[in-house]
Amino acid sequence: MLKIQNLKTEKENKQILKGLDLTLEKGKTYVLMGPNGSGKSTLAKTLSGDPSYKVSEGSISWEEESLLEKKPEELALQGIFISYQHPPEIPGLNISQYLRQIYNKKHDTNLNPAEFANLLEEKFTALNLPKEFKNRYLNEGFSGGEKKKMEILQMLLLKPKIAILDEIDSGVDVDALKVIIEAVKNLQNNENTTILYITHYPSLLEQVEPEKIFLMKEGKIVKEGREDLARQIREEGYAEF
Ligand SMILES: Nc1ncnc2c1ncn2[C@@H]1O[C@H](COP(=O)(O)OP(=O)(O)OP(=O)(O)O)[C@@H](O)[C@H]1O
Ligand SMILES: [Mg+2]
Repeated sequence: MLKIQNLKTEKENKQILKGLDLTLEKGKTYVLMGPNGSGKSTLAKTLSGDPSYKVSEGSISWEEESLLEKKPEELALQGIFISYQHPPEIPGLNISQYLRQIYNKKHDTNLNPAEFANLLEEKFTALNLPKEFKNRYLNEGFSGGEKKKMEILQMLLLKPKIAILDEIDSGVDVDALKVIIEAVKNLQNNENTTILYITHYPSLLEQVEPEKIFLMKEGKIVKEGREDLARQIREEGYAEF
């Protein structure tokens, strides 16, 4: 399980996470909600090992092992996956080559381009992405929804133990969202992955049926609950909390 205790994170000397506690159990689905600027993406980036976020206090552990001080690539190899709210465009980085490299590294194998092409085609089909995309540069000129699908494609190839999906449902059409959620559920069934969805939309809850909903405000988890909490957020907004 992932255990976060009293986490305090700073970015450029501004404290953003202010003593956050969160526990996620293996194989379960959770949802994190909270107002703009409350620190949700900061939590995701801290978990990714992004060196521009400084942990000043607290602990993060997975299966009793500390994840603090680990580099982003070490965390990725260990099975931590973050899908970004704003995935970066990387001109010049060919998608097929990039995906084959991360796949080979993660699974300690050496598929050649022809062997990998079959696997990749299967994932493109599952996500309903045109095959021509494999010759493009990573996210360059992609629409918002296409970028989100490319994040999920990476997740399917890496088969993480824990996936934090930061606003995977924003800018995505209803059909694409169904495809994405289906792909996440499949992965979870096969790999027993822990999933944390970060979202602004209570409607996502009906589709993903989370174990728990966490509410974040001003850098802390201030409440957790289930459908009752979602209803309260939908009807009253965040001011009450
Ligand atoms: N370099 C920085 N200097 C000062 N403040 C920063 C810096 N980087 C981030 N912040 C602030 O940290 C806060 C948390 O940002 P974060 O992106 O984590 O929020 P969020 O909960 O993901 O919001 P949203 O729902 O809008 O995505 C924001 O108020 C943001 O302006
Ligand atoms: Mg955010």
